[in-house]
Amino acid sequence: MGFIEHIPGTRPIPIPERHPESKGVGVLGLHEGRTLLLAMERCSSVHAVAGCDLNEEKLAASKGERPDLFFTPKYEEMLGRDDVDLVAIYTPDAHHGDHICKAFEAGKDVIVTKPIVNSLEDAARILETGRRCGRRLLVGQSSRFFEPFQRQRRDLEGGKFGGLCGIELVDAHYIHRMDWYYRKSPWATTETDWAFLGMSHPVDLVRWYLGRVAEVSAYGRTSAMGAEHGLVGRDIYVVNLTTEDGRIGRAMGHYGCHELPRARNCIELMLYASGGTSLAQYHDMRYVHSGPAGGPAVPTGFDPAEMAEVVEDYLYAGRQYYFNSEVHGMHYGEFANYAEYFGRSLIDGTDASPGLEEGVETYCVMEAVKRSAQRRKPVAIAPLLKEVGL
Ligand SMILES: NC(=O)c1ccc[n+]([C@@H]2O[C@H](COP(=O)([O-])OP(=O)(O)OC[C@H]3O[C@@H](n4cnc5c(N)ncnc54)[C@H](O)[C@@H]3O)[C@@H](O)[C@H]2O)c1
Repeated sequence: MGFIEHIPGTRPIPIPERHPESKGVGVLGLHEGRTLLLAMERCSSVHAVAGCDLNEEKLAASKGERPDLFFTPKYEEMLGRDDVDLVAIYTPDAHHGDHICKAFEAGKDVIVTKPIVNSLEDAARILETGRRCGRRLLVGQSSRFFEPFQRQRRDLEGGKFGGLCGIELVDAHYIHRMDWYYRKSPWATTETDWAFLGMSHPVDLVRWYLGRVAEVSAYGRTSAMGAEHGLVGRDIYVVNLTTEDGRIGRAMGHYGCHELPRARNCIELMLYASGGTSLAQYHDMRYVHSGPAGGPAVPTGFDPAEMAEVVEDYLYAGRQYYFNSEVHGMHYGEFANYAEYFGRSLIDGTDASPGLEEGVETYCVMEAVKRSAQRRKPVAIAPLLKEVGL
């Protein structure tokens, strides 16, 4: 067994043995997609075979890092290759629909980064094309696949804190200063909206726990930073969500703020359940939950299960796997985790979440967020689901 280049002072990442039915992956869009291209060394059920980008510099940079792979600026050329089983899409939001449909038509399964799509037409189109071509899709909801969020989920699924049925309130946010992003990716100011680009994280996290959302009530506005960069939509959102049976959640986003990362991580998921409370954080890689703490009870008269706030911190152990010891916040580990999970589900023929239908449903919730903020009225999800064919 080999190891990914080892950075002293960190835990080495083993290169796992390749599964005999491992899926060949072609990556489209080599900025954020470059992360997956490199991260697949951590996987056994998928392996990188090709990369594609219109931009020659991006192509050359990835080629320099993986000279063994096939690179092209032409998407059709990558889709035509027999060794590409699976296409992973990391192009600007507004192009996802087109790129997903082309992959389905070419007989490929798809990983698409969040947000799955950002228009009603594209949502209907990918659903129809995926069903007609019999292909599968996973939305790369990176937050779900980060260490603390995985552990939090496993605890709830295992019945801790009253289990999934015991959840009484879901509270998620994604806040991030984004002026740097407008300079790097000008499409973010005019071709999408933060209801999709940013809110895809907290909305997906809330939906992950609440199930099908029935109605949203959202407020939104544009920050001074957003306006300064010519943002056409809103970059501040506060959203309340509810299900048919009255369970409730809250999602919040701010993309023109001055951050206080020590006080509040950029992505957090707080679950208030009947038997306890838990918090997963990105990117400090902490999982915080109510007790019990380790060791025997001391005779104070308090129940140790109720008084302890347990902090599990994976940053030091996990930073090479998740961040490649680069900037605090790169996505190597999460991307590897979801690619491995999807590859495994394709090999075993099992379901993977969030898949095509769930992803389109979450798109409808984000669309409702945008409409609710525009109209200053609650918006029901059912008519949108019907319109896209769900
Ligand atoms: N946490 C996450 O999962 C995460 C983080 C950041 C970005 N994203 C998502 O990833 C996507 C890309 O974001 P980014 O920051 O990399 O944007 P970017 O603008 O930096 O990069 C997009 C790349 O796609 C290429 N491209 C565009 N059209 C193409 C085409 N037709 N064929 C080939 N290449 C094409 C561009 O040349 C560019 O290199 C967005 O949808 C964004 O929302 C997800």
